[in-house]
Amino acid sequence: MAYDREKDLICDNLDVNENGHLTINGADVTELAKEYGTPLYVMDEDRLRERCRTYLDSALDAFDGKARILLASKAASFKRIYEIADDEGLCTDVVSCGEIYTAMKAGFPLEKAYFHSNNKTDADIAFAIDNGVGYFVVDQREELESIDRIAGEKGKKQEILLRITPGIDPHTQAAIATGKVDSKFGTAIETGQAEEITKLALSLPNISLVGFHCHVGSQVFDSDVFLRAADIMLDFIADMYAKTGFLAEQLDLGGGYGVRYLSTQPHIDIADNIREVAACVKAKCEELNIEMPVICFEPGRSIVADAGLTVYTAGSVKKIPGYINYVSVDGSMADNVRYAMYESPYTVVPADNMFAERDLTASVVGRCCESGDIIQKDVCLPSSTTRGSIIAVLTTGAYNYSMASNYNRLTRPPIVMIKDGQPYVAVRRETLDDIIACDL
Ligand code: LLP
Repeated sequence: MAYDREKDLICDNLDVNENGHLTINGADVTELAKEYGTPLYVMDEDRLRERCRTYLDSALDAFDGKARILLASKAASFKRIYEIADDEGLCTDVVSCGEIYTAMKAGFPLEKAYFHSNNKTDADIAFAIDNGVGYFVVDQREELESIDRIAGEKGKKQEILLRITPGIDPHTQAAIATGKVDSKFGTAIETGQAEEITKLALSLPNISLVGFHCHVGSQVFDSDVFLRAADIMLDFIADMYAKTGFLAEQLDLGGGYGVRYLSTQPHIDIADNIREVAACVKAKCEELNIEMPVICFEPGRSIVADAGLTVYTAGSVKKIPGYINYVSVDGSMADNVRYAMYESPYTVVPADNMFAERDLTASVVGRCCESGDIIQKDVCLPSSTTRGSIIAVLTTGAYNYSMASNYNRLTRPPIVMIKDGQPYVAVRRETLDDIIACDL
């Protein structure tokens, strides 16, 4: 296989320079590997900001100003990203005290934070209330009652949205589908429990219900999924209005738009999709004769994924004639668990030798003591690939750093951001002392 621009450069922030080196936002990936070492996460700040703007501008335009974009920070949570999200006018979705704390330390105004999670402990609830988190997205009855009690003890009234399961199958991997009736998340409309929890929320003295939330799944390519979710949720809103007199001020439609890991996957035009959802929402509100709520979207992956890539250095190249070839890299499932967990596809390229003939088919594997530690199978690389060759895995901006671990006591890689072609460190490389920091 030869270099194929269409297939290799799946995102338009990538290019190849005169030395045959991969570049991202103008920065030479091989040079970044030399300067910062590998494994290395690289993130294109300009791409990130562009995606934030596309979402916010198109949503504000399509919904006549009645829209909010929440960065689903679980996709990539570190201080710098909250600074950028705030700077770009986004709110954020947080799912743990760790994410709340990171956002807070970055100076993110927590009144613009929406606190998710299907099981917030009393300590989580108290921490979030004490630190002024704007909204809780409440999953279940027990949680709702705990928030009411804890807010009451603190003399506060907490604004909340209820997470509702609309009962939609988004046709994505089971592990990341969340909107079906049998999901562990949210309260189902179909069973009548969504109505019950709405009435309960309205009756509690320290709870202020502002609206409803749903999230049907992640890595979704079928835009119809969002239209159906909006339709079902608006029917529910109108039904609750008729039954209780409560009219939702906010409807949060969650995140989930899919991204291209391979050139064969479709490209989703976010602005077009948002316009489509807006047309559907507006028509439905007219039909139901209700005022349109503020519409929120919670994108994670589609904001950060193609801003990122991971750089590795090859180690051993093992050829087992008649069987399989392996190229081991200096990273692992500890920095990219997504193939091991979901068999996620990735585009993997020889970053320091892009124009070379790719005549070696190999599994690119990590260095954890585990056979399942695979970054990607059946990768085409040059047969000159050897200890020291630089390999890049593309589109790793979402759920790679945030799902990274210290398995085998490996240190987590740094994140180097690229702004106007210039690199800077946003997250430093972990040290061996970080590894033992909690050991007494
Ligand atoms: N809102 C809620 C309530 C969510 O649960 C999620 C993702 C999002 C928004 C953002 O969805 P996105 O736009 O990123 O698709 N670890 C998996 C993905 C899990 C998604 C969990 N929830 C992966 O690596 O593919």
